Amino acid sequence: MAISFTNKVAIITGAGGGLGRAHALHLAKLGAKVVINDLGGSLDGSGGNSAAAEKVVAEITAAGGEAIANGASVSDDAGVANLVKQTMDKWGRIDVLVANAGILRDKSFGKMELKDFEAVVNVHLMGTVKPCKAVWEIMKAQGYGRIVVTTSSTGLYGNFGQTNYGAAKLSLVGLMNSLKLEGARDNIKVNAICPVAATRMTEALMPPTILEMLKPQFVSPAVAYLASDDAPTGIIITAAAGVFAAAQLVETDGVNLGQSATADDIAAHFGEICDWTTAKHYGQGGEQNAKFLARVQEKPVSG
Ligand code: NAI
Repeated sequence: MAISFTNKVAIITGAGGGLGRAHALHLAKLGAKVVINDLGGSLDGSGGNSAAAEKVVAEITAAGGEAIANGASVSDDAGVANLVKQTMDKWGRIDVLVANAGILRDKSFGKMELKDFEAVVNVHLMGTVKPCKAVWEIMKAQGYGRIVVTTSSTGLYGNFGQTNYGAAKLSLVGLMNSLKLEGARDNIKVNAICPVAATRMTEALMPPTILEMLKPQFVSPAVAYLASDDAPTGIIITAAAGVFAAAQLVETDGVNLGQSATADDIAAHFGEICDWTTAKHYGQGGEQNAKFLARVQEKPVSG
């Protein structure tokens, strides 16, 4: 059966523009009732009003869909509580949360003030944690929930001038990794989207011909898939320009150097330690721990 969100209620944060707007339009087209949350502030997170969210609601309703606007900041406790209450009062359930809101305060680490680091971590990390926390018990009680967090290539791989953003974006993978385990029993699936798209976040970085290929709506089908009934859990899908891939953390099998191993032994065996042909992904931390306990039974490689 084709993926449908009929009778499903989805909250999309930061949906007043860019990727969030595209995800909201896409989910609405697939039948979801959508809550368009957006603070409507500038790229660095200052200012704001609910006009951006209301504009997207107007677009969805004009196309025959159902949507409501919410102008809360995702990092504000009372605002997030109200976002969830407004949704429950209107539609009585929350099936999908797409945590997409974000800001940028780029600067090289030496020049960055801690307040700019904290502001970015606050919006991306706590601005994902707080909506997740606010919908969690509702999703558990429903025995159904789909959460999509938004990570970034900067978080996965790094980018000059974005230490704050990179740290914040990879933290969402950490959140997903444990939340997927805690949600499994109640049919709550938690995944991550890692997009590249032409939005106000990236418009100054690339030439117009490239930006044209990177329309935000080319990413949204992956979000819909990750939020669908048969979604996987704990998966990172990377997406741009109609190209879709997956990313994951992996670890090599390693080498048992014995319990008297020295730094020189590490240096001598660094190639084997980093033998990526043996690398694999672990479904949870305990699986990695079990590898150590299994490998320690083997005879150590002599230095
Ligand atoms: P954008 O700036 O167009 O959209 C972000 C939206 O979040 C804005 O509408 C903004 O008003 C809203 N927002 C900011 N702070 C908020 C808050 N405290 N509460 C509620 N809403 C708030 O940027 P874009 O590119 O659409 O970004 C969406 C997400 O995708 C972000 O999490 C971003 O980090 C992520 N991302 C974007 C990439 C890209 O290539 N555009 C690459 C990787 C990740």
